[in-house]
Amino acid sequence: MSFFPTSVLVTGGAGFIGSNYLLHVVRTHPETNFINLDALTYAGNLANLKAIEDAPNYQFVQGSVNDAELVAALFSTHAFDAVVHFAAESHVDRSILDPTAFVSTNVHGTLVLLQAAQQAWKDADYPCRFHHISTDEVFGSLGAQGHFTADTPYAPRSPYAASKAAADHLVRAFGTTYGLPWVMTNTSNNYGPFQFPEKLIPLVIRNAVVGYSIPVYGRGENVRDWLYVQDHVEALDVVLRNAGNHSTWLIGGNQEITNLALVEMLLDAVDTATGKPVGTRRPLIQFVTDRPGHDFRYALDSSPVQNELGWRPKHDLTSGISRTVTWYLENAAWMNDILDGGYRDYYEMQYGSRGMN
Ligand code: NAD
Ligand code: DAU
Repeated sequence: MSFFPTSVLVTGGAGFIGSNYLLHVVRTHPETNFINLDALTYAGNLANLKAIEDAPNYQFVQGSVNDAELVAALFSTHAFDAVVHFAAESHVDRSILDPTAFVSTNVHGTLVLLQAAQQAWKDADYPCRFHHISTDEVFGSLGAQGHFTADTPYAPRSPYAASKAAADHLVRAFGTTYGLPWVMTNTSNNYGPFQFPEKLIPLVIRNAVVGYSIPVYGRGENVRDWLYVQDHVEALDVVLRNAGNHSTWLIGGNQEITNLALVEMLLDAVDTATGKPVGTRRPLIQFVTDRPGHDFRYALDSSPVQNELGWRPKHDLTSGISRTVTWYLENAAWMNDILDGGYRDYYEMQYGSRGMN
């Protein structure tokens, strides 16, 4: 099945993955209009979108997915035939400090969008589609063996994961109850340009560059499967356009590594890129109190998206990390511009210092 959307509502397009997605699709699909609805929370940054801000098939609207009136007005003005829903509160540690905004945006905001899509599309005689962007965290925590599949029962363990799981259930319920056409992607840890520095990889690169300590939770034994964001957004475009309705796709990089090994790899890459002997920065590593309820391991079986839709990641961790470190070193101004007082307050609350120890 092929789907050719003409007018797409992208939510959360000023965030990390959403902006990488827009940078990709606005240029590869000039025949499609993209409207980016983003509230510009601390995580949203229009600087990410500079390269496409004047593109004729792109428009930005500042507003919240919780604003039902605004969302309905956008549907009526732009006659969307697709929604690609990224907008979310996305950081697990912040959800532990205060889950309130996670339920509001991730659950209620998703409901608002589903209701608007359902209302607009209920009598549609043209193809339409709600693409919900979700996470592997809804499946819970794995031991040393095994992989999540699309049939793995949900077992979310953090407030963030629980809010994403609730949203996933709502999407499927709208399909079952009202016939809303949806597709869903559950993805592993992304990394690459434009990621907010609260997340492990940009946090490590930034702290390494300025010589701050590198906080590793527990003993650094937890395992994540890392996916370069450019590969992810290509997969999203393939799924939106080629998957069947009411289908779920797991997208991972097949690049599992412990946090400690990843941090060492990053520090060594920063050493190399800055002309220091490899190993110089490893003493910056500091083991700190573990994240409460820290999921031990995530791993996804991505074979269906590879075998049935023909997508494959182009980057392994070595090439992706090298590109990512280079990008952050070359874009120090982007990083400095977003490190405002709000970030420093958050850092102090999370790590007990403003980064200097
Ligand atoms: P992010 O935090 O970088 O960006 C979130 C964006 O949503 C920001 O631009 C923010 O301003 C916007 N936003 C927040 N609340 C909003 C609201 N009420 N209305 C409109 N916009 C709002 O997040 P990300 O890392 O780019 O993640 C995007 C999506 O992908 C999320 O749904 C997340 O759960 C999912 N996901 C992320 C990863 C990852 O590794 N980053 C992996 C799997 C899934
Ligand atoms: O798996 C997909 C998820 O990946 C997404 O749904 C989330 O939106 C995204 O934030 C990410 O969640 P994680 O919690 O896995 O990512 P984070 O970068 O916060 O942490 C990665 C690992 O590194 C995790 O095991 C916790 C650890 N960590 C993190 C930070 C910020 C540290 O050891 N020290 C740190 O300072």
